[in-house]
Amino acid sequence: MKKAIVLAGSRGIGKAIADSLKQLNMEVVATSTNELDTSNIAQVKKFAQEQKEADILVLNTGGPPAKEFSKITEEEWNKYHNQLFLGFCILFQNLWINQGGYVFLVSSSIIKEPIPNLILSIAYRVAFSSVLKVLSKTYAAQEISCINIAPEPIGTDRLKNLVENMDEFANTLPMKRVGKPEEIGKFVKSIVEEDIKYITGVTINFDGGISNYIF
Ligand SMILES: NC(=O)c1ccc[n+]([C@@H]2O[C@H](COP(=O)([O-])OP(=O)(O)OC[C@H]3O[C@@H](n4cnc5c(N)ncnc54)[C@H](OP(=O)(O)O)[C@@H]3O)[C@@H](O)[C@H]2O)c1
Repeated sequence: MKKAIVLAGSRGIGKAIADSLKQLNMEVVATSTNELDTSNIAQVKKFAQEQKEADILVLNTGGPPAKEFSKITEEEWNKYHNQLFLGFCILFQNLWINQGGYVFLVSSSIIKEPIPNLILSIAYRVAFSSVLKVLSKTYAAQEISCINIAPEPIGTDRLKNLVENMDEFANTLPMKRVGKPEEIGKFVKSIVEEDIKYITGVTINFDGGISNYIF
């Protein structure tokens, strides 16, 4: 593993993943919105052309605002379609993942248990999770593992924007705390470091036991 690309690697979950991978002595390209806004398709194409290939690709980006369905504008539908779905598809079509590599998607637990006011987020994440699942079959022939990480709730700027009183909220959770971004970073690092490949096409809940479903 020589090169990792971590999109939205400047803060929160993405930064924790980038920091963990740096400990494995590889080149880590961690982007902020300054280097790559995944809703800007021209920028995504240029980025893929410049980078050309990677051993590890972490597909991450900013989350859409919480909004009632009736209040979502056409402009917002288009922006988040690009940001959470089309930009990632274009990257896959233009960026080569080396044999034996990894693709990690940072999605959300709401792809399995929807929350009504996060419909912008759910809709496009479910769509892209389907693309990743299909591609995991093709990539398996080259031993490239595709892992969908579905977090909730992790203590980042994003969560602070969505939750009013963090202490009160934490008390309602099974572990009485929110997750640490570093826990996701360590998870990704351990999969890569231990050369685990047979886990692919799966969605991993990273939710401290919140989910109510069995599968
Ligand atoms: N935290 C949670 O509990 C939680 C739960 C479920 C899902 N998620 C999802 O996980 C992802 C990461 O969340 P986080 O909690 O780590 O968020 P965060 O701490 O707020 O960090 C957001 C990251 O996304 C980047 N970003 C924002 N808009 C972007 C865009 N249009 N294109 C590319 N990069 C962009 C930011 O770059 P700048 O530094 O340049 O702003 C930053 O690196 C989000 O999609 C979020 O919805 C988070």
